[in-house]
Amino acid sequence: MSYISVDDRSNEQFMELFKQTAEIKTQLSVNKGALRHVCPDVMMGMMFYEPSTRTSGSFNKAITFLGGMPAPFDISTSSIAKGETLEDTARMIAMACDILVVRHSGEGTCRTLETILRQSNPNISIINAGEGKGEHPTQALLDMYTIWENFGRTDVTIGLYGDLAHGRTAHSLIKLASRMGATIVCAAPRAELEMPQEYIRYARDKGAKVIVTDNIESVAGDLDVIYTTRLQRERGASQDKIEAFEAGSGYGVTPALMKLFNPKGIVMHPLPRVDELSVEVDADPRAKYFQQAENGIYTRMALIVSEMNRPIFAKA
Ligand code: NCD
Repeated sequence: MSYISVDDRSNEQFMELFKQTAEIKTQLSVNKGALRHVCPDVMMGMMFYEPSTRTSGSFNKAITFLGGMPAPFDISTSSIAKGETLEDTARMIAMACDILVVRHSGEGTCRTLETILRQSNPNISIINAGEGKGEHPTQALLDMYTIWENFGRTDVTIGLYGDLAHGRTAHSLIKLASRMGATIVCAAPRAELEMPQEYIRYARDKGAKVIVTDNIESVAGDLDVIYTTRLQRERGASQDKIEAFEAGSGYGVTPALMKLFNPKGIVMHPLPRVDELSVEVDADPRAKYFQQAENGIYTRMALIVSEMNRPIFAKA
């Protein structure tokens, strides 16, 4: 079963992944080698057409902790430079793999590759590691896990703050969080950065309360989570809009915003941060973004064991 959109899993399946993740964290905290017997025969191809630090690194660590084999691919030294197509490149990377992790700028790429690759390998599982400004479903998995880990529940109030128009992490998170009972506040600092209507409609269709505001300060005291994102310069926010935006804004999570924020809340960010999240916030106990990034390793391990149908402990 591939994981290309958060729609590919039910809420119950997500809860199962959260519990597996918690178990994995416990086991690795005692012994880093505790799970190397789980997937020793599993080969995971990695096809990253866009830059990545956390996602590619954590998939690499996840498969290694499970005793499996990562098969990385370096776009800069590949035959893409000779004109090889995406499809042919994917055929080569996926050869002998059980799982193929794909990051690409084109929305729909993962589904296309799934159709092509299953002709020769019917069991291959495609995992979307970020597709253009569409979805980033493994990020949503680790984001929701981090919320569940911190609050013990998912029906919290989440303020999405930043470039909600072009940020795929915010798109996957609004879908998943709204399904899992969260209230969503969309706080894009400017109109052109607002959450696209299709995602707001999706969330409301799932029964979630969605509030749209351009003033995070006015709602900060009522939020459980501030989830901030960087301006996605490479994804269509036009240069003149960016310059206008940067000139006039006090956009960002700063010590001043933290004073207004719920004392029991948490600050999240998918990272990388640029200048929308002040380093002065790092020492605040509510800053959870590094914990969130580390959870990327354990949630991706849980995903791999479920893809390969090798749960590391029996279902309750
Ligand atoms: C994000 C992405 O690639 O969409 N990074 C990540 O995977 N943690 C966020 C971003 O690039 O802003």
